[in-house]
Amino acid sequence: MYVFVSFAILAAVAYGQFQQPLTEPPEIPWTGRWMPHPPSSEHTNIHDPEHAVRMGVVTTECDDAKTNLTLDWDYSPADYTCYNYNRKYLPDKRIKPILECENIPKYYSARHECMNKSIHYASAIPTFGTHRPLWPRYGEYKFVPRQRWVHNLEHGAVVMLYHPCANQLEVDRLRYLVVNCLRRHVITPLTLLDEERPLALVTWGCRLTMSTVQAGIITNFIKQHALRGPEQISRDGQYDLNLKVPAEVLTDLDDSVLCPRS
Ligand SMILES: *[C@@H]1O[C@H](CO)[C@@H](O)[C@H](O)[C@H]1NC(C)=O
Ligand SMILES: *[C@@H]1O[C@H](CO)[C@@H](O)[C@H](O)[C@H]1NC(C)=O
Repeated sequence: MYVFVSFAILAAVAYGQFQQPLTEPPEIPWTGRWMPHPPSSEHTNIHDPEHAVRMGVVTTECDDAKTNLTLDWDYSPADYTCYNYNRKYLPDKRIKPILECENIPKYYSARHECMNKSIHYASAIPTFGTHRPLWPRYGEYKFVPRQRWVHNLEHGAVVMLYHPCANQLEVDRLRYLVVNCLRRHVITPLTLLDEERPLALVTWGCRLTMSTVQAGIITNFIKQHALRGPEQISRDGQYDLNLKVPAEVLTDLDDSVLCPRS
């Protein structure tokens, strides 16, 4: 069993005035609590009214997945190396996994920022938010910055995160389950995970953090939360810096059957 922490109440308080069924995006003052940026109204070749900058369009003036990448990551090995050799994080079955889900309003549309503007997250492990127009190709990376993989979440992906000092056996077990559940996955280290729960799975709106890998919890999480992003797009991305292992198709490009072997 996992401890379920829900932010639904917080979100309901924040957005209590919009709980009636909505037929069109409401004209509301932007509160900035969950959605820091209002959708832009600009319309140019690279702009769209929902995301401010259209996704998946390679432009040298905005984002080509090759230029100005150091804005998100300075290529430092510190982001994928465990320098703590004597104190690898020990898996502990007594530490329960934590599932946290945020109630993201249906009409929320994440903003795309070009590579001339930094993106910051309020949370160490964001489950939604502003991101880059071009998303990572699916698979396992030496490292891929959050500003990229948050976009995959929006498309329904599962992102697997592990601290570089996490127990290697647990990382291997988690990876095995993820790559055998769906093609639409991104795997990367993240040093912002804590020592107690150095492993995580993230989907749009939800994160599961843990100390040890329990197969049932992993496959349940993926079956319940994968492919639930607001945009159902299975197309691969263009960003592939430090991609180590491209994802393989399990059932079909849409991952029609999740965790087909379990
Ligand atoms: C960033 O580049 C985009 C695309 O060229 C442009 O529309 C935007 O104004 C620029 N923003 C800044 C802060 O320079
Ligand atoms: C790179 O950043 C510079 C400085 O902000 C900007 O002028 C340029 O348009 C950016 N290019 C790309 C492809 O992001």
